Amino acid sequence: MKIAVTGATGHLGGKVVEQLSKKIAKEDIIALVHTKNHAQNLIDSGYDVREIDFQKPFTLETAFKGIDTLIYVASKTYKVFDRVHELENVLEAMENDSVKNLVAMSFIADQEDNPFIMTPFYGYLPRRLAGTKFNYAIAKNSLYADPLVPYLPELIERKGLIYPVGDQEMSFISLEDSAEAMADMALDEKILQSRKTYLLTQSRAYTMPELGEIMTRVTDHEIGYHPVSVEEFGRIYASEGDGDELASMYAGGAMGYLHGLSDDFAHITGHEPEAMESFLTRNYQK
Ligand SMILES: NC(=O)c1ccc[n+]([C@@H]2O[C@H](COP(=O)([O-])OP(=O)(O)OC[C@H]3O[C@@H](n4cnc5c(N)ncnc54)[C@H](OP(=O)(O)O)[C@@H]3O)[C@@H](O)[C@H]2O)c1
Repeated sequence: MKIAVTGATGHLGGKVVEQLSKKIAKEDIIALVHTKNHAQNLIDSGYDVREIDFQKPFTLETAFKGIDTLIYVASKTYKVFDRVHELENVLEAMENDSVKNLVAMSFIADQEDNPFIMTPFYGYLPRRLAGTKFNYAIAKNSLYADPLVPYLPELIERKGLIYPVGDQEMSFISLEDSAEAMADMALDEKILQSRKTYLLTQSRAYTMPELGEIMTRVTDHEIGYHPVSVEEFGRIYASEGDGDELASMYAGGAMGYLHGLSDDFAHITGHEPEAMESFLTRNYQK
Protein backbone atom coordinates (compact mmCIF):
# COMPACT_ATOMS: atom_id res chain seq x y z
CA MET A 1 0.00 0.00 0.00
CA LYS A 2 1.75 3.19 -1.21
CA ILE A 3 0.64 6.47 0.36
CA ALA A 4 1.75 9.81 -1.09
CA VAL A 5 1.61 13.20 0.63
CA THR A 6 1.59 16.56 -1.18
CA GLY A 7 3.18 19.64 0.37
CA ALA A 8 5.62 17.29 2.09
CA THR A 9 8.11 20.11 2.71
CA GLY A 10 5.40 22.32 4.25
CA HIS A 11 4.15 22.73 7.81
CA LEU A 12 1.22 20.33 7.58
CA GLY A 13 2.45 17.93 4.86
CA GLY A 14 5.79 17.53 6.65
CA LYS A 15 4.01 16.51 9.83
CA VAL A 16 1.77 14.09 7.92
CA VAL A 17 4.88 12.36 6.56
CA GLU A 18 6.28 12.20 10.11
CA GLN A 19 3.05 10.70 11.47
CA LEU A 20 2.78 8.18 8.64
CA SER A 21 6.35 7.03 9.26
CA LYS A 22 5.34 6.03 12.81
CA LYS A 23 2.68 3.74 11.36
CA ILE A 24 4.00 2.27 8.11
CA ALA A 25 7.36 1.48 6.49
CA LYS A 26 9.21 4.43 4.95
CA GLU A 27 9.34 2.55 1.63
CA ASP A 28 5.56 2.86 1.43
CA ILE A 29 5.56 6.65 1.84
CA ILE A 30 6.03 8.97 -1.12
CA ALA A 31 6.86 12.57 -0.35
CA LEU A 32 5.55 14.83 -3.11
CA VAL A 33 7.44 18.11 -3.08
CA HIS A 34 7.32 21.29 -5.09
CA THR A 35 11.00 22.12 -4.83
CA LYS A 36 13.49 19.29 -4.33
CA ASN A 37 15.97 21.78 -2.84
CA HIS A 38 13.62 22.18 0.14
CA ALA A 39 13.48 18.41 0.61
CA GLN A 40 17.05 17.44 1.47
CA ASN A 41 16.09 16.08 4.90
CA LEU A 42 13.39 13.88 3.34
CA ILE A 43 15.86 12.60 0.73
CA ASP A 44 18.52 11.99 3.41
CA SER A 45 15.94 10.14 5.54
CA GLY A 46 15.38 7.71 2.68
CA TYR A 47 11.90 8.69 1.49
CA ASP A 48 10.85 8.30 -2.11
CA VAL A 49 10.78 12.01 -2.98
CA ARG A 50 9.06 13.05 -6.19
CA GLU A 51 8.74 16.54 -7.61
CA ILE A 52 5.32 17.94 -8.58
CA ASP A 53 3.79 21.23 -9.58
CA PHE A 54 0.03 21.35 -9.05
CA GLN A 55 -0.21 23.68 -12.03
CA LYS A 56 1.62 21.26 -14.38
CA PRO A 57 -0.52 18.16 -14.98
CA PHE A 58 2.30 16.07 -16.51
CA THR A 59 4.34 16.34 -13.27
CA LEU A 60 1.38 14.99 -11.32
CA GLU A 61 0.78 12.16 -13.73
CA THR A 62 4.44 11.10 -13.55
CA ALA A 63 4.59 11.33 -9.76
CA PHE A 64 1.28 9.57 -9.01
CA LYS A 65 2.32 6.30 -10.67
CA GLY A 66 1.92 3.30 -8.37
CA ILE A 67 0.18 5.28 -5.61
CA ASP A 68 -2.80 3.73 -3.82
CA THR A 69 -3.76 6.64 -1.58
CA LEU A 70 -3.09 10.36 -1.97
CA ILE A 71 -3.10 12.73 0.98
CA TYR A 72 -3.73 16.07 -0.65
CA VAL A 73 -2.52 19.11 1.26
CA ALA A 74 -3.33 22.09 -0.96
CA SER A 75 -0.85 24.84 -1.73
CA LYS A 76 -1.19 28.12 0.08
CA THR A 77 -2.25 30.27 -2.84
CA TYR A 78 -5.07 32.72 -2.02
CA LYS A 79 -6.20 32.77 -5.66
CA VAL A 80 -9.40 30.72 -5.67
CA PHE A 81 -9.26 29.87 -9.38
CA ASP A 82 -5.66 28.65 -9.03
CA ARG A 83 -6.65 26.47 -6.08
CA VAL A 84 -9.59 24.99 -8.00
CA HIS A 85 -7.37 24.44 -11.04
CA GLU A 86 -4.82 22.72 -8.78
CA LEU A 87 -7.53 20.41 -7.44
CA GLU A 88 -8.81 19.65 -10.93
CA ASN A 89 -5.28 18.74 -12.06
CA VAL A 90 -4.87 16.47 -9.02
CA LEU A 91 -8.16 14.67 -9.70
CA GLU A 92 -7.37 14.21 -13.39
CA ALA A 93 -3.95 12.75 -12.63
CA MET A 94 -5.48 10.46 -9.98
CA GLU A 95 -7.92 9.18 -12.56
CA ASN A 96 -5.27 8.70 -15.26
CA ASP A 97 -2.98 6.85 -12.84
CA SER A 98 -5.82 4.85 -11.21
CA VAL A 99 -5.13 6.24 -7.73
CA LYS A 100 -8.13 4.95 -5.82
CA ASN A 101 -8.16 6.73 -2.48
CA LEU A 102 -7.95 10.36 -1.41
CA VAL A 103 -7.66 12.14 1.92
CA ALA A 104 -8.18 15.83 1.19
CA MET A 105 -7.45 18.70 3.53
CA SER A 106 -10.17 21.30 4.01
CA PHE A 107 -10.91 24.18 6.36
CA ILE A 108 -13.73 24.99 8.75
CA ALA A 109 -14.61 28.25 6.93
CA ASP A 110 -16.66 26.70 4.11
CA GLN A 111 -20.12 28.26 4.65
CA GLU A 112 -21.82 29.76 1.61
CA ASP A 113 -22.11 33.29 3.05
CA ASN A 114 -18.67 33.31 4.65
CA PRO A 115 -16.66 36.38 3.53
CA PHE A 116 -13.29 34.54 3.82
CA ILE A 117 -11.82 34.79 0.34
CA MET A 118 -10.81 31.09 0.24
CA THR A 119 -14.28 29.86 1.25
CA PRO A 120 -15.37 29.21 -2.37
CA PHE A 121 -12.59 26.60 -2.68
CA TYR A 122 -13.54 24.85 0.56
CA GLY A 123 -17.19 24.88 -0.51
CA TYR A 124 -16.28 23.47 -3.92
CA LEU A 125 -14.08 20.62 -2.68
CA PRO A 126 -16.71 18.31 -1.10
CA ARG A 127 -19.25 18.97 -3.84
CA ARG A 128 -16.68 18.20 -6.53
CA LEU A 129 -15.51 15.01 -4.79
CA ALA A 130 -19.09 13.79 -4.37
CA GLY A 131 -19.35 13.49 -8.15
CA THR A 132 -16.21 11.37 -8.51
CA LYS A 133 -15.73 7.63 -8.22
CA PHE A 134 -12.82 7.87 -5.77
CA ASN A 135 -12.91 6.61 -2.22
CA TYR A 136 -12.36 9.75 -0.22
CA ALA A 137 -12.46 11.39 3.18
CA ILE A 138 -12.09 15.08 3.92
CA ALA A 139 -10.08 16.30 6.90
CA LYS A 140 -11.63 19.67 7.72
CA ASN A 141 -9.21 21.56 9.93
CA SER A 142 -10.11 24.24 12.39
CA LEU A 143 -7.54 27.00 12.98
CA TYR A 144 -3.98 25.78 13.45
CA ALA A 145 -2.87 26.37 17.04
CA ASP A 146 0.81 26.46 16.03
CA PRO A 147 1.04 30.06 14.73
CA LEU A 148 -0.15 31.26 18.16
CA VAL A 149 3.21 30.27 19.69
CA PRO A 150 5.48 32.66 17.70
CA TYR A 151 2.69 35.29 17.98
CA LEU A 152 2.88 35.35 21.80
CA PRO A 153 5.74 37.91 22.11
CA GLU A 154 3.74 40.36 19.97
CA LEU A 155 0.61 39.71 22.03
CA ILE A 156 2.57 40.34 25.23
CA GLU A 157 3.67 43.69 23.81
CA ARG A 158 0.13 44.53 22.67
CA LYS A 159 -1.20 43.30 26.04
CA GLY A 160 -3.96 41.49 24.22
CA LEU A 161 -5.38 39.60 21.27
CA ILE A 162 -6.77 41.84 18.52
CA TYR A 163 -8.69 39.40 16.28
CA PRO A 164 -11.83 41.17 15.03
CA VAL A 165 -14.25 38.40 16.04
CA GLY A 166 -16.19 40.08 18.88
CA ASP A 167 -17.64 37.67 21.39
CA GLN A 168 -17.52 34.64 19.06
CA GLU A 169 -15.56 31.52 19.94
CA MET A 170 -12.84 30.05 17.73
CA SER A 171 -11.77 26.37 17.46
CA PHE A 172 -8.20 25.17 17.05
CA ILE A 173 -6.22 22.01 16.32
CA SER A 174 -2.45 21.56 16.39
CA LEU A 175 -0.67 20.67 13.15
CA GLU A 176 0.62 17.52 14.82
CA ASP A 177 -2.87 16.39 15.81
CA SER A 178 -4.29 17.23 12.39
CA ALA A 179 -1.44 15.29 10.74
CA GLU A 180 -1.98 12.28 13.00
CA ALA A 181 -5.69 12.18 12.15
CA MET A 182 -4.96 12.53 8.42
CA ALA A 183 -2.43 9.69 8.55
CA ASP A 184 -4.93 7.48 10.40
CA MET A 185 -7.64 8.37 7.88
CA ALA A 186 -5.39 7.27 5.03
CA LEU A 187 -4.85 3.90 6.71
CA ASP A 188 -8.48 3.18 7.56
CA GLU A 189 -10.36 1.49 4.73
CA LYS A 190 -13.75 2.28 6.28
CA ILE A 191 -12.96 5.98 6.59
CA LEU A 192 -11.55 6.08 3.05
CA GLN A 193 -14.76 4.58 1.73
CA SER A 194 -16.97 6.87 3.80
CA ARG A 195 -16.93 9.84 1.36
CA LYS A 196 -17.46 12.02 4.42
CA THR A 197 -16.02 15.13 6.04
CA TYR A 198 -14.33 14.86 9.44
CA LEU A 199 -13.97 18.08 11.44
CA LEU A 200 -10.71 18.23 13.39
CA THR A 201 -10.88 20.42 16.50
CA GLN A 202 -9.71 20.44 20.08
CA SER A 203 -12.42 19.44 22.52
CA ARG A 204 -13.45 23.02 23.26
CA ALA A 205 -13.52 26.39 21.54
CA TYR A 206 -12.58 29.73 23.10
CA THR A 207 -13.83 33.29 23.17
CA MET A 208 -10.91 35.68 22.84
CA PRO A 209 -10.98 36.72 26.54
CA GLU A 210 -10.81 32.99 27.41
CA LEU A 211 -7.91 32.42 25.04
CA GLY A 212 -6.18 35.50 26.52
CA GLU A 213 -6.58 34.02 30.02
CA ILE A 214 -4.83 30.83 28.91
CA MET A 215 -2.06 32.86 27.27
CA THR A 216 -1.67 34.94 30.44
CA ARG A 217 -1.15 31.77 32.49
CA VAL A 218 1.27 30.31 29.94
CA THR A 219 3.42 33.44 29.52
CA ASP A 220 3.01 35.12 32.95
CA HIS A 221 2.13 38.31 31.08
CA GLU A 222 -1.30 39.94 30.98
CA ILE A 223 -2.92 39.14 27.64
CA GLY A 224 -6.47 40.49 27.31
CA TYR A 225 -8.68 41.14 24.33
CA HIS A 226 -8.64 44.48 22.53
CA PRO A 227 -10.29 43.81 19.16
CA VAL A 228 -9.57 46.04 16.19
CA SER A 229 -11.84 46.42 13.17
CA VAL A 230 -11.55 44.01 10.24
CA GLU A 231 -10.08 46.85 8.13
CA GLU A 232 -7.55 47.77 10.81
CA PHE A 233 -6.52 44.11 11.18
CA GLY A 234 -5.87 43.94 7.43
CA ARG A 235 -3.77 47.12 7.61
CA ILE A 236 -1.73 45.93 10.61
CA TYR A 237 -0.68 42.70 8.86
CA ALA A 238 -0.53 44.06 5.28
CA SER A 239 3.26 43.95 5.29
CA GLU A 240 3.15 40.17 5.86
CA GLY A 241 1.43 39.82 2.50
CA ASP A 242 -1.89 38.34 3.59
CA GLY A 243 -3.41 40.92 5.95
CA ASP A 244 -6.61 41.38 3.95
CA GLU A 245 -7.03 37.64 3.39
CA LEU A 246 -6.69 36.91 7.11
CA ALA A 247 -8.97 39.85 7.92
CA SER A 248 -11.64 38.31 5.67
CA MET A 249 -11.26 35.03 7.58
CA TYR A 250 -11.82 36.78 10.93
CA ALA A 251 -14.78 38.65 9.44
CA GLY A 252 -16.23 35.15 9.00
CA GLY A 253 -15.13 34.40 12.55
CA ALA A 254 -17.21 37.35 13.76
CA MET A 255 -20.21 35.63 12.13
CA GLY A 256 -19.53 32.52 14.21
CA TYR A 257 -17.92 30.57 11.37
CA LEU A 258 -14.64 29.61 13.04
CA HIS A 259 -16.07 27.85 16.04
CA GLY A 260 -17.40 24.44 15.09
CA LEU A 261 -16.59 21.57 17.46
CA SER A 262 -16.53 17.83 16.93
CA ASP A 263 -15.23 14.63 18.48
CA ASP A 264 -14.13 13.24 15.10
CA PHE A 265 -10.46 13.49 16.12
CA ALA A 266 -10.96 11.14 19.09
CA HIS A 267 -12.99 8.69 16.98
CA ILE A 268 -10.30 8.59 14.30
CA THR A 269 -7.21 8.40 16.53
CA GLY A 270 -8.57 6.73 19.69
CA HIS A 271 -7.40 9.56 21.97
CA GLU A 272 -8.27 13.16 22.81
CA PRO A 273 -6.63 16.04 20.92
CA GLU A 274 -4.10 18.09 22.88
CA ALA A 275 -5.79 20.94 24.77
CA MET A 276 -4.74 24.53 24.06
CA GLU A 277 -3.12 25.23 27.42
CA SER A 278 -1.01 22.10 27.27
CA PHE A 279 0.00 22.82 23.67
CA LEU A 280 1.05 26.42 24.37
CA THR A 281 2.86 25.48 27.58
CA ARG A 282 4.78 22.71 25.83
CA ASN A 283 5.88 24.96 22.95
CA TYR A 284 6.36 28.43 24.46
CA GLN A 285 9.84 29.27 25.80
CA LYS A 286 9.61 31.81 28.63
N1 LIG B 1 -6.23 25.67 9.26
C1 LIG B 1 -5.49 26.76 9.32
O1 LIG B 1 -5.49 27.53 10.30
C2 LIG B 1 -4.56 27.06 8.21
C3 LIG B 1 -3.57 28.01 8.40
C4 LIG B 1 -2.66 28.23 7.38
C5 LIG B 1 -2.79 27.54 6.18
N2 LIG B 1 -3.77 26.64 6.01
C6 LIG B 1 -3.89 25.85 4.76
O2 LIG B 1 -3.23 24.60 5.00
C7 LIG B 1 -2.52 24.19 3.84
C8 LIG B 1 -1.10 23.86 4.22
O3 LIG B 1 -0.54 24.94 4.91
P1 LIG B 1 0.96 24.92 5.37
O4 LIG B 1 1.07 25.89 6.49
O5 LIG B 1 1.42 23.52 5.54
O6 LIG B 1 1.61 25.58 4.06
P2 LIG B 1 3.15 25.57 3.64
O7 LIG B 1 4.03 25.29 4.80
O8 LIG B 1 3.34 26.82 2.84
O9 LIG B 1 3.18 24.31 2.67
C9 LIG B 1 2.63 24.34 1.41
C10 LIG B 1 3.36 23.31 0.60
O10 LIG B 1 2.81 23.31 -0.72
C11 LIG B 1 3.90 23.27 -1.64
N3 LIG B 1 3.50 23.92 -2.88
C12 LIG B 1 3.37 25.24 -3.13
N4 LIG B 1 3.03 25.45 -4.39
C13 LIG B 1 2.96 24.23 -4.99
C14 LIG B 1 2.68 23.80 -6.31
N5 LIG B 1 2.40 24.66 -7.29
N6 LIG B 1 2.71 22.47 -6.55
C15 LIG B 1 2.98 21.57 -5.59
N7 LIG B 1 3.25 21.93 -4.30
C16 LIG B 1 3.24 23.25 -4.02
C17 LIG B 1 5.01 24.02 -0.96
O11 LIG B 1 6.29 23.66 -1.51
P3 LIG B 1 7.42 24.77 -1.77
O12 LIG B 1 7.70 25.40 -0.44
O13 LIG B 1 8.56 24.00 -2.30
O14 LIG B 1 6.83 25.74 -2.75
C18 LIG B 1 4.85 23.57 0.48
O15 LIG B 1 5.53 22.36 0.74
C19 LIG B 1 -2.68 25.32 2.83
O16 LIG B 1 -3.63 24.94 1.88
C20 LIG B 1 -3.16 26.49 3.63
O17 LIG B 1 -4.00 27.35 2.90
C21 LIG B 1 -4.65 26.38 7.00
